[in-house]
Amino acid sequence: MRLLLEALFLKYHYDFRNYAMASIRRRLKQARQNLGFASFSALQESLLHDPDMVATLLRYLTVQVSEMFRDPSYFKAIREKVVPHLRTYPSLKVWIAGCSTGEELYSFAILFREEGLEDRTIFYATDINQEALQTAEAGIYPLDRLQHFTECHRQSGGKSSLSDYYQAAYGRASFDKSLRRNVVFSDHSLVTDAVFGEMHFISCRNVMIYFDRVLQDRVITLFRDSLVRKGFLGLGSRETIRFSENASAFHEFVRDEKIYQRRVD
Ligand SMILES: C[S@@+](CC[C@H](N)C(=O)[O-])C[C@H]1O[C@@H](n2cnc3c(N)ncnc32)[C@H](O)[C@@H]1O
Repeated sequence: MRLLLEALFLKYHYDFRNYAMASIRRRLKQARQNLGFASFSALQESLLHDPDMVATLLRYLTVQVSEMFRDPSYFKAIREKVVPHLRTYPSLKVWIAGCSTGEELYSFAILFREEGLEDRTIFYATDINQEALQTAEAGIYPLDRLQHFTECHRQSGGKSSLSDYYQAAYGRASFDKSLRRNVVFSDHSLVTDAVFGEMHFISCRNVMIYFDRVLQDRVITLFRDSLVRKGFLGLGSRETIRFSENASAFHEFVRDEKIYQRRVD
């Protein structure tokens, strides 16, 4: 399996070598069985000769679970505690790192519109999974997910009805194009790519749980260097910077919601 991960990195620059191994092992096993390869070396052989196999393998190696206003109390804390700080800036940059299929991005875009910050904000929505990024860019979700999203939006302190932001047709909800007017979608890896400078808010939720400690440290350094002084970092409920060597660069701004603020120096 290690050789397979090396091949994926050396040939295609996708670096899973420092992901939490138990989960990678499980996922690779599943890929090997479902794709009908007798061994990992046969899978590796196919990967080296068939570039289409990369996208297939990425579907197994990256977890694309997301929802809008996921953990509504996180978004409520942003509205109530972070937005008053963000209002003091004439322009804002927000990075949704590991945005998957876009649900988190649209939650931010809607929240920022409701709070009157949308026009001064550029959003960067990044992920390594191109198929997920394409879905994010399209902003179309199965209509049966919308009832749950609507409830989460309400619990987050939503100031309007979620249905104001999408059109429903043929069992699908298409989110308003205007919500992505100020969005840059980009293929970016937290493992191998560089700093995104001068961000005021970085939201990276349910991504670092898949990384080992070394990699988590690297990513937190990347976030520290990508934030303006007093900029904010929001993580998922199961993630923390507490054990990172960079923990002292941040203070816990809203402890329960894993929202950190970069210290001045
Ligand atoms: C479980 S989803 C989280 C989606 C969203 N942030 C949320 O919380 O709802 C994890 C995402 O991290 C992405 N990811 C995994 N490794 C990454 C890396 N090295 N750089 C950027 N994104 C990565 C995956 O492709 C996937 O879209």
